[in-house]
Amino acid sequence: MNRSLSNTATVAVIGAGAMGAGIAQIAAAAGHPVRLLDLKPGAAAHAIEGIRATFDKLVSKGRMSAEAATAASVRLSAAGSTAELKDAALVIEAVVERLDVKQQLFAELAGIVDDTCVLATNTSSISVTSIAAGVPLPHRVVGMHFFNPAPLMALVEVVSGLATDPDVAGAVYDTARAWGKSPVHTKSTPGFIVNRVARPYYAEGLRLLNEQAGDPATVDALMRDAGGFRMGPFELMDLIGHDVNFAVTRSVFDAYFGDPRFTPSLIQQELVNAGRLGRKTGRGFFDYAKDARAPEASSEPAVALSGRIEVWTGTPLGDALCARLTGAGTLHTAYDTPHADARLLSVGDARVYLTDGRTATQRAADNGHSQTVLADLTLDAGSARRIALARGDACSVASYRAAVAVFQAAGFAVSRLEDVPGLAVMRTVAMLANEAADAVNQGVCDAASADTAMQKGVNYPRGPLAWADEIGLAYVLSVLDHLAQVYGEDRYRASPLLRRIVASEGQFHIRQGDQRAST
Ligand code: NAI
Repeated sequence: MNRSLSNTATVAVIGAGAMGAGIAQIAAAAGHPVRLLDLKPGAAAHAIEGIRATFDKLVSKGRMSAEAATAASVRLSAAGSTAELKDAALVIEAVVERLDVKQQLFAELAGIVDDTCVLATNTSSISVTSIAAGVPLPHRVVGMHFFNPAPLMALVEVVSGLATDPDVAGAVYDTARAWGKSPVHTKSTPGFIVNRVARPYYAEGLRLLNEQAGDPATVDALMRDAGGFRMGPFELMDLIGHDVNFAVTRSVFDAYFGDPRFTPSLIQQELVNAGRLGRKTGRGFFDYAKDARAPEASSEPAVALSGRIEVWTGTPLGDALCARLTGAGTLHTAYDTPHADARLLSVGDARVYLTDGRTATQRAADNGHSQTVLADLTLDAGSARRIALARGDACSVASYRAAVAVFQAAGFAVSRLEDVPGLAVMRTVAMLANEAADAVNQGVCDAASADTAMQKGVNYPRGPLAWADEIGLAYVLSVLDHLAQVYGEDRYRASPLLRRIVASEGQFHIRQGDQRAST
């Protein structure tokens, strides 16, 4: 059943700032008469001018017909007061992020609009349950959380508070879909889906820096070139602004009553204290002055091949190494089954393994073989351009360099990380998947929605749960358990749902008896 709003129904947008203007543009383009209201005199009219200019630009680029642009422009009008929003079937507020202001606005509107009018909030951090409390007929208050810039980002989190009527959430979901968006349902919990599940992306980067695993430019390059993320965590935090990013982390941490999973970083706090807020102040992790040198990732200098190269296939990295080395004509022996101790590669005395969350030093001790080197996860081992390697404390420089030479011969730039557990991409992806699993476990969303949210809201190259399925859930669980063991911190505790699905040998995206896995 499609419960979307008729496209002749009037949509009111309150707050004509960055988000409100974008939302008004979307609704007008979708065919609705749109009334835009802002507290600041002239702001709504100014925003409408801007939207019309955007429509003209879309016409000149051939992405909108001239007729459609004219019709959409005509459908936009500025309102002078809430009384002029009387006919609205859907109100979306995008005013200042303050509970008292949003509550008061909805309470006022409740006395003006029809009882059937849906009151939607674009809040990114305030409880929808709290906003609805005190508003007459709170069942029609719902979150409709767009991402910035709203016309370009596909995700809309449809947030249900305690009182929200499922039919109201359903109607908003269908409306967002009719507007060409990718909506997901979620419950009103701190950070909803995206701002919760994304926390480890920043947090693990900051942890790596805190433990001197690698410098920001190198970790960023690894997350891009090996992990397939569009931006590394440090350049992304610089773009978002450390004040904003730190405030979101703090608010999620506080809202979860200090759950160590969300502990903010002292390094980021120092940047905020120093006023190094990122691009907007000219300096964050990186320097944005005109004459500043572009940050460069560190890569190992070229090393000549030495020693016999043996590769074990049967894993994505083993298969890719085999194919890439065969292509380069440098492979001596390829075995067509995985090695009993899971090694990917031997060269001379060196043995290379995919990280499983133990340090290389620990793994060397466990295996009784000192010449142990670990490789990080890649999104696609066949095409990745860079990979991180780490060596155990007892591994000789010669053995490490022999391993580096093999990866270089296979076409990888090699970045060395200190011997930290889980390296960069593996620990980040494991923690993202763990957070998504916990959100599913707590009924915040289903698995498909968690993955859609991260792909459409923050452009992740793969949904964290689908990615974990692909790595192997038992493997991801072992990474987390090893991280928890190394650090002894509750932060790395595995989600009970992940543990349960591993025990039943299931997957998030194939239902094998677990009703809470993806539909
Ligand atoms: P903004 O500061 O650009 O715009 C807010 C507008 O609301 C201003 O024009 C202000 O004059 C107006 N306003 C304030 N109180 C008002 C009231 N009582 N009645 C009418 N107008 C009022 O803010 P922005 O960035 O557009 O954010 C708006 C909302 O959207 C906030 O709740 C924010 O948390 C949320 N949000 C922001 C995102 C972002 O990336 N900027 C992303 C997703 C949600």
